[in-house]
Amino acid sequence: MDKKTVLTGITTTGTPHIGNYLGAIKPAIEMSQGDSYNNFYFLADFHALIKCHDPERVAQSTREIAATWLALGLDTDKATFYRQTDIPEITELTWILTCMCSKGLMNRSHAYKASVDANRDAGKTDLDDGVTMGLFSYPILMAADILMFNADLIPVGKDQIQHIEMARDMAGRFNHTYKNLFTLPEAVVDEETQLIPGLDGRKMSKSYDNTIPLFCSADELYKLIKQIKTDTLEPGQPKDADNSTIFQLYSYFANEQESAAMRQQFENGIGWGDAKKELFEFLDAKLAEPRARYNELMNDLGAVEEVLLKGAEKAREVATPLMDQVRIASGIRPLTYVAEAKEEQKQKKEKSAEAIARAEEGRRRAILMQLKPLLDRVENAADKASEAAQLIAEKTAEVEGLKKKAKQKAQNELELLQEELAAYL
Ligand code: TRP
Repeated sequence: MDKKTVLTGITTTGTPHIGNYLGAIKPAIEMSQGDSYNNFYFLADFHALIKCHDPERVAQSTREIAATWLALGLDTDKATFYRQTDIPEITELTWILTCMCSKGLMNRSHAYKASVDANRDAGKTDLDDGVTMGLFSYPILMAADILMFNADLIPVGKDQIQHIEMARDMAGRFNHTYKNLFTLPEAVVDEETQLIPGLDGRKMSKSYDNTIPLFCSADELYKLIKQIKTDTLEPGQPKDADNSTIFQLYSYFANEQESAAMRQQFENGIGWGDAKKELFEFLDAKLAEPRARYNELMNDLGAVEEVLLKGAEKAREVATPLMDQVRIASGIRPLTYVAEAKEEQKQKKEKSAEAIARAEEGRRRAILMQLKPLLDRVENAADKASEAAQLIAEKTAEVEGLKKKAKQKAQNELELLQEELAAYL
């Protein structure tokens, strides 16, 4: 069986945090490690422009995300790791899909509806206030990201499921309208990693401003961990590990024994300060090595750029031929292009020319049958040459004496006789 293609994109608007790492980066890298899948991972920098109009931030986030994935050990010889904007075919496909996507489908997009709802709640009369066409049609760009590589499985957060369904919709419409070129993708959602808590206990997310950057300095890491919200239980009082952000973060990085030991400490009434110190020391030990690699890469961005460009080359080996097919299928073609179907028609025509020739040959044989006695006359004559000349002279005289229609018939016969007797004449 062919390997399935796994694809996911990371919007380049922020600094990678522990939630991104546990929820997306780590599982994606793990999926690329065996030999089970083809993996396409990319920096969605065109997506960044939808929400973020700060060019420095977009550029810096792109550096940080690229360096993060490499620092964490993504093997770019196996996985294809690239920047969306290095693949012009994606933008090109976006337009073709835009023409395959009903506006009503986009009206139902959660991202767009959230903006409309916010405007309504704010009492604005223009419900589309602040909505760009980029935000409105963003699922189409995302569909192009996915369909361009005929991806089967798309690991995403819950909020993205709808977009994968929309991509299926567009793929289906294209396949039906033009040609079956696109695979229908499926979302893969890992429920467990959806729940990584941030400093305030809510889901760790840039939009809640409760994140711990994955590769901040050790000092910064400790400072942030100290900010994790706790209750007022004193040291010595037993604590509920399952309701503690500290314990949860710890256990996401720990093996079973380590988790069990920490749970025991919670039951034994570890103080919050000590728990935070343990979490810090544990995370710092886990992150020190990739953090050092990350810092190296951030100081050698030329090397990172090179990796991305190589990845783009690999990605385009897939995108370019598929995009060629998409263009041809939708009628965007060189003027001289002869479609396969036309080629077939041509062949059919050529075939029918053959059939006509065959019929012609049949007709010729039928006439010759009738003329057989005349031909025999020549064959049986002592002087075949003069008999042949004699016969042709007679037939010529007959042709001359006939009216138009009959003349044509006799003329045909004459010509056939001349052909058949050519050897003697
Ligand atoms: N929109 C996705 C997000 O915000 C990022 C993304 C862009 C993506 N293109 C993609 C994810 C294609 C999966 C596949 O998380």
